[in-house]
Amino acid sequence: MTTTPATMRLLAGPPSAAGPEQFEAHRTRLGSLPPVGDRREIIPILEASGLLGRGGAAFPVGRKWRAVAERSQGDAVVVVNGAEGEPRSAKDRVLMVNRPHLVLDGALVAADAVGATDIVLYVGSEHRDAHRVLGRALGEREPELRGRVRLVAAPVGYVAGEATAVVHFLNRGDARPTFLDRRPHEVGVGGRPTLVQNVESLAYAALIARHGDAWYRSAGRGRTPGTALVTVSGAVPRPGVREIEYGLTIAEIAALAGTAADGTSAVLVGGYFGGWASLDEVRDRPLDPADRAAGGLGFGCGVVSFAGPDTCGVRATAEIMTFMAGESAAQCGPCVFGLAAIAEASRRLATGAAADDDLERIDRWAGQVQGRGACHHPDGAIGLLRSARAVFADEFARHQARGRCSVTHAAAA
Ligand SMILES: Cc1cc2nc3c(=O)[nH]c(=O)nc-3n(C[C@H](O)[C@H](O)[C@H](O)COP(=O)(O)O)c2cc1C
Ligand code: SF4
Repeated sequence: MTTTPATMRLLAGPPSAAGPEQFEAHRTRLGSLPPVGDRREIIPILEASGLLGRGGAAFPVGRKWRAVAERSQGDAVVVVNGAEGEPRSAKDRVLMVNRPHLVLDGALVAADAVGATDIVLYVGSEHRDAHRVLGRALGEREPELRGRVRLVAAPVGYVAGEATAVVHFLNRGDARPTFLDRRPHEVGVGGRPTLVQNVESLAYAALIARHGDAWYRSAGRGRTPGTALVTVSGAVPRPGVREIEYGLTIAEIAALAGTAADGTSAVLVGGYFGGWASLDEVRDRPLDPADRAAGGLGFGCGVVSFAGPDTCGVRATAEIMTFMAGESAAQCGPCVFGLAAIAEASRRLATGAAADDDLERIDRWAGQVQGRGACHHPDGAIGLLRSARAVFADEFARHQARGRCSVTHAAAA
């Protein structure tokens, strides 16, 4: 088979209008997976590839597989995380619906590499098409997968996709994060070492298993090698999921979505765990996980959402904080009460009903909430709030002082 690096991507192959790729077509296009013996040797290749996790934290995939493999007695568990609870992300669904067999391939490679007997497909119950397609894909691969893979409906909710919540749900039917010191790779599903990995990360692992680390590293324009799925939304003519090289600039991503983004003032990068940025400042910055540490944009789960000229940053932020407060798993005080109080004050500011010191209180509460939860949910919410306070600083001040919004030029209610 002759394929160039550019065509060997997750979404290469038939267009999404053609529907889910069937198993025979998938195998004809990409070839079979390497034999089991080779899959067991893949961890150094994954490490050399530089593949990073796509669930939001950009943790190196090879390193995580090694941590599970070191603890496995041949009894580990692989959980394919397709919860996708981030409201502005659609990339995991697009992948599961269009390339189900690539996701299954990745799970199989992972299971052989880490020494796992069981694979759990943990897919958001609201993602009905993904359930239907994966269920049918499993049927196509009988008897190879019989008794080894099960498809589970993840409860609806932002926090249900967090790794310890995933394990807690599979063990106890309760999708709330746990406080235990030991992480899933040590003690996970059924007390066994468990690899919780995002669907996109696994699909790329399936391609790297076929084509090698050098192939993967041949793409990428910035410091992080490879390609990634992004969900582009907001004030763009052609929103949707695209596969890009890491390191594309925000302006280039806007162009892919059909706009120069001239009327846009701000962009939300990385989803609700990411942050707002001023478009003027970041237009030519690369989207690259490695840049986050250097104060760059980061990547999160690949959300790039452009605020239109009619978007009030204060109102948009109040909506997001309200959502995040509502998604707290209600077991840590600072998260439950702090996020609720911040959301309420944000709504007062947004609607022109601010109390005298709401802005000051929001900033103070933010400091009291950060780092005080069992999971990173409140940290993500506070990170987003802080970015909004910086990017929409004038707007927040105007809402606090006069209850007025420069977008509507009227009372902000
Ligand atoms: C509040 C919260 C929600 C999360 N939701 C998801 C999710 O929906 N899907 C996902 O893959 N990872 C989600 N994660 C990240 C997971 O905890 C975990 O890091 C990820 O599934 C690991 O896969 P990766 O290394 O391939 O990114 C979430 C994390 C947090 C803190
Ligand atoms: S920090 Fe919030 S979301 Fe996370 S476990 Fe505690 S209450 Fe639940």
